Amino acid sequence: MITLEKVNKYFNRRKRNEIHIINNTSLQFEDTGLVALLGASGSRKNYFVKCHWWTR
Ligand SMILES: Nc1ncnc2c1ncn2[C@@H]1O[C@H](COP(=O)(O)OP(=O)(O)OP(=O)(O)O)[C@@H](O)[C@H]1O
Ligand SMILES: [Mg+2]
Repeated sequence: MITLEKVNKYFNRRKRNEIHIINNTSLQFEDTGLVALLGASGSRKNYFVKCHWWTR
């Protein structure tokens, strides 16, 4: 199982223009198989996956 637990991503942290683009988001994936993330353009699909790699 691959677990992403309470993932958060900010830009411009602690500045006036801070933006919280991923807000405590959790998902679990099986170890095998193919997964597709579906969502509108700009809905943070890429950043959600990148956050997982940054924190491994
Ligand atoms: N430098 C930045 N400053 C502020 N917000 C940013 C910055 N870079 C990205 N974002 C935010 O992240 C969003 C893009 O996230 P992401 O690339 O994960 O989306 P996506 O779902 O993969 O989109 P697409 O389907 O178009 O590939 C932007 O719409 C914006 O809200
Ligand atoms: Mg994308």
